[in-house]
Formats: sequence, C-alpha cells, structure tokens
Amino acid sequence: MTYESVVNHDWEKAKAQGAIREEVQFDPDSEGYQIYAGSSCISCHGGEFEGGLGPTLVNTGLTADEIIDIAHNGIGTMPANQWTGSEEDLQVLAEFLESLKSE
Ligand code: HEC
Repeated sequence: MTYESVVNHDWEKAKAQGAIREEVQFDPDSEGYQIYAGSSCISCHGGEFEGGLGPTLVNTGLTADEIIDIAHNGIGTMPANQWTGSEEDLQVLAEFLESLKSE
C-alpha cells in the first residue's frame, strides 16, 4: 500500500462495514446460517461474512427485501441468479443477513 492509499482510504467506512474484522455475533447452528452455508453465497462472501470475492455482509444496512432482490438480480459485479433454493429459505436467509451487525 502506498502512503496515498493509506491516507485516502476511508477506514471508518471500512470498519463500519466490517471490512476490518470486529466481533460479529451469529449463531452457526441457526437456520439462517445453515441456509447460508449450503448456498453459493458463502463461496464469495466468506464463512464468517468476512468477504472474499464479494464484500462483507455485516452491517450492510440493507433490508431483507433488498437482499432478496440482490440474490435474484445481482448487483454491480455480483452476477444474477445466485439463489437456487426456495423462496421460503431465501426469506429466512435474508432476514438473517439483515440482522448481522458487529458491535
Ligand atoms: C460469484 C461471487 C458471488 C456470489 C456467489 C454471491 N455474491 Fe453477493 N456479491 C458479490 C460481489 C462481487 C458483490 C459486490 C457487487 C458490487 O458492489 O459491485 C456482492 C454484493 C452483495 C450484496 C450487497 C452488499 C452491500 O454491502 O452492498 C449482498 C446483500 C449480497 N451480495 C448477497 C448475496 C447473497 C444472498 C448471495 C447468495 C444467494 C450472494 N451474494 C452470492 C459476489 C457474489
């Protein structure tokens, strides 16, 4: 990293979005996480939502409806049709993702 990129990087925003890891409270035994772990989402967004190919899914500020829309239609460089399960499971997953916030 160059000096410029350090100075210009928005660390507060990165931190707020969880790009800088903080404690993320989630229950790996919950239905929401089980659905996440069995979906394609985990391959790009990470086992602990830390991101990878895609950004972190902690503190996105998105509603469940918006997340469902993204799962179907993609967003930016995320391809469409990443969700292949039932609408019921997607609803549970989206509400779970909406609830992910770091302390
Ligand atoms: C092939 C990799 C890939 C897969 C699979 C994938 N995503 Fe993504 N996702 C991305 C990328 C890349 C972005 C960032 C898009 C952009 O902003 O240009 C993204 C963005 C998002 C966002 C917006 C995050 C934000 O802070 O704005 C949400 C929500 C999301 N993905 C949910 C999901 C869900 C739910 C699934 C599973 C159904 C999924 N993604 C599967 C790559 C992926």
